[in-house]
Amino acid sequence: MDTRPIGVFDSGLGGLTAVRQLRRLLPGEDIVYFGDTGRVPYGSRGHDVIVRYAQQDIRFLLSQNVKFIMAACGTVSSTYPSAEAAQLPVPYTGVIGAAARAAATATKNKRIGVIGTAATIRSDSYATQLKDLVPGVQIFARACPLFVPLVENGYVNGDKVTQLMIEEYLTPVRDSGIDTLILGCTHYPLLKKMIGDFVGDSVTLIDPGKLTAIATATALDDLGISSGRSTGGTTRFFVSDTPDGFAKQERLFMGSEAGGPVEQIAIETY
Ligand code: DGL
Repeated sequence: MDTRPIGVFDSGLGGLTAVRQLRRLLPGEDIVYFGDTGRVPYGSRGHDVIVRYAQQDIRFLLSQNVKFIMAACGTVSSTYPSAEAAQLPVPYTGVIGAAARAAATATKNKRIGVIGTAATIRSDSYATQLKDLVPGVQIFARACPLFVPLVENGYVNGDKVTQLMIEEYLTPVRDSGIDTLILGCTHYPLLKKMIGDFVGDSVTLIDPGKLTAIATATALDDLGISSGRSTGGTTRFFVSDTPDGFAKQERLFMGSEAGGPVEQIAIETY
């Protein structure tokens, strides 16, 4: 038994889609979430900057005495070196592995689409794992850099600008005959309905944050570090920009699972 909190972080608020799932699956666990709202987006930045930001985010979570760290960010998961993650004092997971495994199981025609930030697509993180899991797989990858600001600003429910960008980014991916599409950025589940309508019912959508939340619940048990409680878990939120308007955004990303105090921190000092 371990009653310390689970630490979750993202470049902004997209990681809240994973926290929403964690809250549902693990109602007795405490969660500390850090969203780097002052420096979002990470996905258009270079490798070294993303690694430095991830190191600071992780140091902050460790200062909160977390027992497990989830990078609920496709960009960090694709960039933060696994050798460094293995040296952390607590177990760490990104979101790539669980999503790649689910896509490998879902595909029948071995044609898998991957969408994400520029950094995620440039890293080939999904393609590398999928090639091991599905011999002969064909990957159709596309960076969708404008999705993150659209989502962070709430343009999610059938908005015209978002619809145009979906058509612009996803037409070639859809027309390549994929049967599975990885929503490779934790912001994208907010566009799931619009993307699903555009690519059609025959394409299975994979949500990495959700799948990683499920894998995390299993990992806590396997590692013997579950809290042992089935109710009463709390969520504390930390952000690096002013928390004004956070409650509204929190509801957008977390729905009925929203709730908990929010505090601003100076992430550069970690
Ligand atoms: N949620 C992050 C990801 O999954 C957002 C990316 C960004 O900050 O650009 O990649």
